[in-house]
Amino acid sequence: MPEAQTESQLVVSAPAMEPSVSHELAQKRSEAKTQFAPLPTSALQSTVIREEQPAEVAAAASTDEQPSVSAAPTTAAGAAETSARVFHSQADTFVAHAERQTMTAMQITSMLGMHRIHANANAPIPRLADHDVLIEVYAAGINPIDWKMLDGDLPVVRGSLLPFTLGFDVAGVVSRVGPRASRFKIGDEVLARCDRPGTFAQYCATHEDTVALKPNNLTFESAAAVPLAALTAYQCLVDVAQVTAGQRVLIHAGLGGVGSFAIQIAKTIGCFVATTCSARNMHAAKALGADIVVDYRSQRFRDHLNQFDVVIDSLGGKCLTDSMKCLKPDGLVIEIGGLPTRTILRSLGLRGYHGPREMSLLTASRYSHWKCREAAKKHNVRYEYYFMHPSGEQLQRITRWLADRTIQPVVDRMFEFFHVEDALNYSATGHVSGKIVLQVKSAPSPPARLNSLPPASERLV
Ligand SMILES: NC(=O)c1ccc[n+]([C@@H]2O[C@H](COP(=O)([O-])OP(=O)(O)OC[C@H]3O[C@@H](n4cnc5c(N)ncnc54)[C@H](OP(=O)(O)O)[C@@H]3O)[C@@H](O)[C@H]2O)c1
Repeated sequence: MPEAQTESQLVVSAPAMEPSVSHELAQKRSEAKTQFAPLPTSALQSTVIREEQPAEVAAAASTDEQPSVSAAPTTAAGAAETSARVFHSQADTFVAHAERQTMTAMQITSMLGMHRIHANANAPIPRLADHDVLIEVYAAGINPIDWKMLDGDLPVVRGSLLPFTLGFDVAGVVSRVGPRASRFKIGDEVLARCDRPGTFAQYCATHEDTVALKPNNLTFESAAAVPLAALTAYQCLVDVAQVTAGQRVLIHAGLGGVGSFAIQIAKTIGCFVATTCSARNMHAAKALGADIVVDYRSQRFRDHLNQFDVVIDSLGGKCLTDSMKCLKPDGLVIEIGGLPTRTILRSLGLRGYHGPREMSLLTASRYSHWKCREAAKKHNVRYEYYFMHPSGEQLQRITRWLADRTIQPVVDRMFEFFHVEDALNYSATGHVSGKIVLQVKSAPSPPARLNSLPPASERLV
């Protein structure tokens, strides 16, 4: 291990890769800081699992393995051009919406074996409940929860009727509204972390309260990268930790989906931010605003970081317990990786644990949570497991920051709709720099055969 260094030695001194972006972000944040006022706690409905409730299994440990991706990704710069070329006029689209009863959806047809996701061109368009809106999906964001559900690590799919469509994040256009939905109208360009899976399809339905208007300055692809990750970061920092300007926040995996938003939001609030990532991402983390960046592959972060008020940990295991050593007395570590508990699944209206595999996961999760509680007591700090919830109101607040470029989504790669398994495969490497997005509206015809996911043991980091 290297000699212990001071914080200032660890700061990346070279200019960030995109100095102008970095400068602009810093400027916008200093303006936003003065305007920042958290939503009233009563409106936030956070799903915090307190110490007496069972926890979850720690997130998978990482290795130095590099991702192997077979699909040809497209660039963020090319997206706007592609979108402009392929998107139909809204008038044409609305006629089609009125008549259509079926759509193409990338569906899980089996929980066993290879080639479990298939393009179903005759999937029914979701029916709307009173307060739902139907969104024509232009782009869908990929999150680790998607491949965890496919692997059966989250027992939601296992207990659901097949075929089943994955995906929570969407950016698209409202194409129908439920009889009592009033917040959006047909033609609105929106984004959402939906209240049910199903965004890897041409249409998805969600409660209107989960939806926000898309800022004009974002492409659909960039907007789809936002909801779940940005809401998780926001809720951890604002609802759970209630951070204030000047507080010291350690955000692990700073170039991950959640981490990249958490750094920017924490800086917007006025916090001092440290983060961990690999060497290749250090400049990018700095550009997002991190004050200290630690290369987790060559340095032990706990040797260098101390007196933090809050840690957001998406990695679990040793990273989580080491993080406790970086906190001030009574500081807070928030764990977000791994499995939600049965309590959380139920509170979300999802199916709970069934069968021997789920029971063993539940036992492991209870044990892990108990260990974390004990470790927190020993270090005189607080520990909470948190699972995000969809919120259109909070997402609208986030989009205001996106609109004035106080924060920006980081999109690593985009995949075509029919390459969803490749996108999930890439996400499952655990080494994504930012977000992965599926281009849905601009998708060409489906390929004859889709790529398969290798066994989970080969894909997890
Ligand atoms: N509870 C909730 O509500 C909630 C919400 C969202 C996400 N999550 C969970 O949180 C986890 C993270 O989600 P995400 O979307 O941010 O994941 P992600 O985007 O896949 O995270 C990838 C990032 O993790 C970094 N990383 C990997 N190992 C690391 C290590 N040992 N130290 C520091 N960084 C490391 C990688 O950096 P390098 O490429 O540089 O190695 C990469 O940038 C997942 O398990 C997800 O399921 C939970």
